Amino acid sequence: MMMTSTVIGVVDLAAAFLLIYGLWRMASPLTASAGITVAGWGMLAAVLVSFLVLFEVSDAARPYVFGNAGLAMIALAMGGGVSWWAGKKIAMTSMPQMVALYNGMGGGAAGAIAAIELLAHRSMGPTVLMMTLLGALIGAVSLSGSLIAWAKLAGVLKAPWRFHGQQWGNVAMMLLLLGVGAYLLLGDAIAPAWIWLFVGCALLFGVLMTLPIGGADMPVVISIYNAFTGLAVGLEGFVLQMPALMIAGMLVGAAGILLTLLMARAMNRSVANVLFTRFGDGHKPKPGHIKGELKPTAASDAGTAMRYAASVIIVPGYGLAVAQGQQKLYEFVKLLMSAGVQVRFAVHPVAGRMPGQMDVLLAEAGVPYDWIVQLEDINDDFAHTDIVLVIGANDVVNPAARTDKSSPIYGMPILNVDQAKQVYVVKRGEGRGYAGIVNPLFYADNCNMVYGDAQAELIAMIEAVRGLGMSAAS
Ligand code: TAP
Repeated sequence: MMMTSTVIGVVDLAAAFLLIYGLWRMASPLTASAGITVAGWGMLAAVLVSFLVLFEVSDAARPYVFGNAGLAMIALAMGGGVSWWAGKKIAMTSMPQMVALYNGMGGGAAGAIAAIELLAHRSMGPTVLMMTLLGALIGAVSLSGSLIAWAKLAGVLKAPWRFHGQQWGNVAMMLLLLGVGAYLLLGDAIAPAWIWLFVGCALLFGVLMTLPIGGADMPVVISIYNAFTGLAVGLEGFVLQMPALMIAGMLVGAAGILLTLLMARAMNRSVANVLFTRFGDGHKPKPGHIKGELKPTAASDAGTAMRYAASVIIVPGYGLAVAQGQQKLYEFVKLLMSAGVQVRFAVHPVAGRMPGQMDVLLAEAGVPYDWIVQLEDINDDFAHTDIVLVIGANDVVNPAARTDKSSPIYGMPILNVDQAKQVYVVKRGEGRGYAGIVNPLFYADNCNMVYGDAQAELIAMIEAVRGLGMSAAS
């Protein structure tokens, strides 16, 4: 028995180390994929070693525990199988939905463990009881909130659900939750009905809190729930006295908090602003505010101009992911480079809909990572660049962020695309970006619009450049 506990402890420690090391490697797109694999091995080791408890139980408990282990294996096979299949099949643009769903499952699992512990009527000290209740609360909120976030991102729930006095309703629900929680904490015996009421209120609170938030803000909301799930798992690790669970939970929690803060900072918004404000709604440009006019041009003309430029910077955005145009973009860039044009990619920290989405998209197409330059390293170069190709990006190149104090994105660092000699913007029409606001860049004298789907327009650019008589470098 002693031996088994030692093996479990050592493997758990090694698993925690692999999780930390994996997370550290995820910090750079160059090593992220290896980091995910390392963390995955850590998680697998922690899961497999937990089956060793089967050798620790008494003879009387063995049939019962073996039955549960069988159920756990079936659950692992089902969960692992579905997520393996979904992970292979999912499109890049659907990744936030998938993360929301998996995150909800993690929160739900932590909440369920807490509820079972409470229902088991174990005699708990006040600290453990408090931790268990907190885990149940946070896990349940994370489960129902993440499911609403998934429904919004998947387009199942189309519009935010808002009504007068909603925030006061949420405050009242929170107070009810705290009241029931205090009763459970201070009461002599825990009646099952009160436990169910507590978990039910927490689930409802997650729904009510998430329903009024706009679908576009869901990536940040998911990151917040990610932090919640990590916290709930960490708390349950404490309750069950499982160090691996504690460490894994705290890592997820800390990473979720940091990611939320980074995203909020990169958008120049506070987390409270995301949770309680209707972002972008109702921001109308003042009459006469935007000077100039939209000047459409053909993709073939834009392609030809880039072929004869000395330097080109490509700015990818969410629309490139929607159009799945990354392969064609890389093909086009190789053509330009083989003709002697200097080409770089400029990536904004919140381009797309999830952290690192553009880096992953470009890496998927095979673009070498050293061609991709981050905002702070390239922003001064736009003024000395012949042509900038903005492809499916909008907010991240909106100069109103620098000048218009009434704009919801005022203060957000943007790519200084407007300072280039010539800008081409590829987008399908006059659709707005995430913030729902007009972009004065599109009306500027040095900007032309190439209207159409990003992939189709890139194909037209490739054909135009090939028509000039050159082939792509291999
Ligand atoms: P957006 O501002 O959302 O603009 C995307 C543009 O792509 C739209 O104007 C759209 O115009 C165009 N588009 C859509 N489908 C297209 C297609 N098939 N072909 C060509 N164009 C297409 O994107 P962005 O510039 O990448 O900015 C990201 C925004 O998301 C920021 O406001 C950021 O704050 C926010 N956000 C990001 C994150 C993270 S972590 N990345 C998290 C939360 C929020 P048309 O409809 O006219 O085509």
